[in-house]
Amino acid sequence: MRILFVNGPNLKLLGRRETGIYGRTSLAEIKKRVLQRARTLRVLVDFRQSNHEGDLVDLIGAAPGRYSAIVINPAAYTHTSVALRDAIAAVGLPTVEIHLSNIHARENFRRRSLTAPVCAGQICGFGPLSYLLGLEAAVSLAKSTGKRP
Ligand code: DQA
Repeated sequence: MRILFVNGPNLKLLGRRETGIYGRTSLAEIKKRVLQRARTLRVLVDFRQSNHEGDLVDLIGAAPGRYSAIVINPAAYTHTSVALRDAIAAVGLPTVEIHLSNIHARENFRRRSLTAPVCAGQICGFGPLSYLLGLEAAVSLAKSTGKRP
């Protein structure tokens, strides 16, 4: 089983970016933890990041046939991107939305997610642990839907 992790804009700056909100753990360190856990679960993970909306749409669009499920932190595009929402809806793979911060406890504009309604569910507020919980959820969803690359 292969799971695609998709990271949106500015997440490459984790560890240095608004550390009071996002903490001091880098995206590279989060990736390491996800890959470690994936090995234990005996699943393969591809871990990607882009600041560009179209690149993220392309990644999602190319996922069917390669991946059993998607875990996505759309970052700021969560709140703005009809294109990402449509891409997730179009491919029909089980998708888990994750966030480091609790987007419901922050500014009003962060409370609305355009992408969450086309995902199986949303995990937010647990810092880097959101990624590991996202992996668990994706593996479980992929097993129950039986999609198998
Ligand atoms: C974020 C929350 C978003 O509102 C924000 O734009 C991000 C990070 C999170 O992981 O908490 O860039 O997705």
